[in-house]
Amino acid sequence: MPENSAAVLREPRGSLVVERVPLPGPAADEVVVRVRAVAVNPVDWVIQGTGPVTYRWLRAPAVLGSDVAGEVVAVGSGVTRFAVGDRVVGLATGTDRGRDPMHEGAFQEHTALLERLTAPISPELSDDQAAVLPLGASTAACALFQPKHLGLPLPGAADAPRERSGVVVVWGGSTSVGMNAVQLARAAGYTVVSTASPRNAETVRSLGAEVVVDHGAPTAVDDLVAAVAGRSVVGAVALGTTSTAACIEVLRRTGGTVLAMASTPVSLDGVAGRRRLLPGALPVFTRLGLATLGLTLRARRAGIRAAFVWGSSLRDDAMGPELWGRVLPEGLADGSIRPVPEPLVVGHGLDAVQSAIDRQRAGVSARKVVVTL
Ligand SMILES: NC(=O)c1ccc[n+]([C@@H]2O[C@H](COP(=O)([O-])OP(=O)(O)OC[C@H]3O[C@@H](n4cnc5c(N)ncnc54)[C@H](OP(=O)(O)O)[C@@H]3O)[C@@H](O)[C@H]2O)c1
Repeated sequence: MPENSAAVLREPRGSLVVERVPLPGPAADEVVVRVRAVAVNPVDWVIQGTGPVTYRWLRAPAVLGSDVAGEVVAVGSGVTRFAVGDRVVGLATGTDRGRDPMHEGAFQEHTALLERLTAPISPELSDDQAAVLPLGASTAACALFQPKHLGLPLPGAADAPRERSGVVVVWGGSTSVGMNAVQLARAAGYTVVSTASPRNAETVRSLGAEVVVDHGAPTAVDDLVAAVAGRSVVGAVALGTTSTAACIEVLRRTGGTVLAMASTPVSLDGVAGRRRLLPGALPVFTRLGLATLGLTLRARRAGIRAAFVWGSSLRDDAMGPELWGRVLPEGLADGSIRPVPEPLVVGHGLDAVQSAIDRQRAGVSARKVVVTL
């Protein structure tokens, strides 16, 4: 009987515990992967630390994690794009409402991935390099391409022009999601203006941003408006706690009308680290609710259509299979899409996953925390 182990969240706010778990079998539209590398996202410590408030549907025990690279060991009866032995990267969506976090959570030796959210890895790419991609690229794609958000045409459709008129604003271009948003918007043919700390400006430019302004500077909004230089703005993607307010101002002053918001306006990192969630965290959640309401009203008053992005919502729309079945495989193969940010491998084995989550919560700069398995 083949065995499987996972880093399991046994109770809300507990530390992950490595233990034996059932080996997932593939549903018809899934592959089962021997996981070789996982990446950590802010949502992992958000769920671990605040799940009873923010992910109320999630029941323990649960296996967290979204980003998987590894090797296919079994394929479902309906799978056509992959065979046993293929190296793949994919988005695990087990923590979403209605999904099974034991079956398809990333932080285990074997996990199930939906074929439509999986792409092949080329031989020159290592597992830790590939593992940085899934949630960052998926969230960026939701923001840019879903009709609910910017609704831009996907890169590289057969008759697509290489260049399109219009500017995409990406606030937070040196975040993991932001780096993907910059390169995907560029790949779709748009001019991109973005933000980063000065130390990361060149990296963001290398992904295709025309101008990168310092998001720490008091003049950041003015600088972005100047970078737009009177051109038409097709929309903004807001990443980082201060990003929504800043993007509303940029859009208001440049005539843009669409805002994709990916971050909460109040950070939950302090709350996630507390020994007890309630009642101590109530003021933070109250501030979060009020700030969200205030920003939503401010956007509406400025004539801006603003909506929150859910990075795994592409699982259930037509864009997900297009992104994972065509855009990412083709872009990775021809080099127009790079797996970004650079992996920061902090350990090997499931025992290292908890410290990797803690490392991500402590803060990274243009790096993706990765554990190899
Ligand atoms: N809604 C969703 O489905 C979804 C999915 C994924 C992520 N997210 C959210 O999106 C955000 C980014 O996630 P991530 O994984 O990409 O984050 P990350 O890579 O961990 O973000 C770290 C980066 O934040 C940047 N940063 C620091 N101050 C900033 C500021 N004032 N404005 C903008 N960026 C700043 C830093 O850039 P410098 O070092 O250059 O300053 C650093 O590189 C988070 O809020 C996360 O919770 C949402």
